Amino acid sequence: MAHRYRSDLTWDDVTPKEVYLNRRQLMTGGGALLAAGMAGGQARAQDAWDLTPNSWEEITTFNNFYEFGTDKSDPAEHAHRLTTSPWSVEIDGLVDNPGTYSFEDIVAGQTIEERIYRLRCVERWSMVIPWNGFELADLLNRVGVQDGARYVAFETAMRPEEMPGLRVPILDWPYREGLRLDEAMHPLTILATGLYGEPMPNQNGAPIRLVVPWKYGYKSIKSIVRISLVAEEPVASWNQYAPHEYGFYSNVNPNREHPRWSQEFERRVGGGLFARNIPTLMFNGYEEEVASLYEGMDLIEFH
Ligand code: MTE
Repeated sequence: MAHRYRSDLTWDDVTPKEVYLNRRQLMTGGGALLAAGMAGGQARAQDAWDLTPNSWEEITTFNNFYEFGTDKSDPAEHAHRLTTSPWSVEIDGLVDNPGTYSFEDIVAGQTIEERIYRLRCVERWSMVIPWNGFELADLLNRVGVQDGARYVAFETAMRPEEMPGLRVPILDWPYREGLRLDEAMHPLTILATGLYGEPMPNQNGAPIRLVVPWKYGYKSIKSIVRISLVAEEPVASWNQYAPHEYGFYSNVNPNREHPRWSQEFERRVGGGLFARNIPTLMFNGYEEEVASLYEGMDLIEFH
């Protein structure tokens, strides 16, 4: 399933579409569930674990990317203005090899693989997205994490001339996010560079974005230009905006009521007007893989 990154190749060049689609179905039935984490077996509602990917259309026209506006349709309409090549990412803080890395440097030597992940937004909708990416741990190990680093901080590009949404001071721009180091090193945490075997569309966070499938969608920061290894818990934009609503951890948790919306159920995007509410699963269904990261922690207090 894995293939080497070549910016001039699309998935179609390396895998005939039928084979690829069949493989995806196979993976949905087995490998992907293993990779993406199938815990709890029969006890879990079938629907909640339906890993049939949303369509390209759904994934690329219904977005949150406030730098381009607050409507779900704004990113698809305006994100083409973002220049994604050349692109570089500053990697700094407690690392052995700090510096400015070009996008090409970052993906060089990485095996880009497909990960079909559920994305659960705090606004109570969800999607299943076939990302292409690599583990964040691979990059962190390459740049060398120093003793004393306990968190990873991320920043999105801030380009007022390309991002009309920056005019609206909803968040204290640039968009920022953070993970504890063990969360960042977890094998489910990826840097994604594409979806459906195509380069990442701008509205989904081109050219490189984070995906942390057991956390609410806003942790998965887009169009990253800076990654810093730090000792103290970094600023996270939504947490800074309303700490009571959006915790630093932001683990998907149906048992913790968001002050404005219950988090018990969600609707799959694309289900139409009559989409049923499906139960939201603890850690978005990735409990078996990640629960041990939070052993002994009160997940209501540390939400
Ligand atoms: N990253 C940036 N820089 N700006 C944003 O507004 N929105 C977040 C997250 N990453 C956001 C962001 C939210 S709320 C969600 S639900 C996901 O991106 C949506 O990802 P998608 O549009 O690829 O589905």
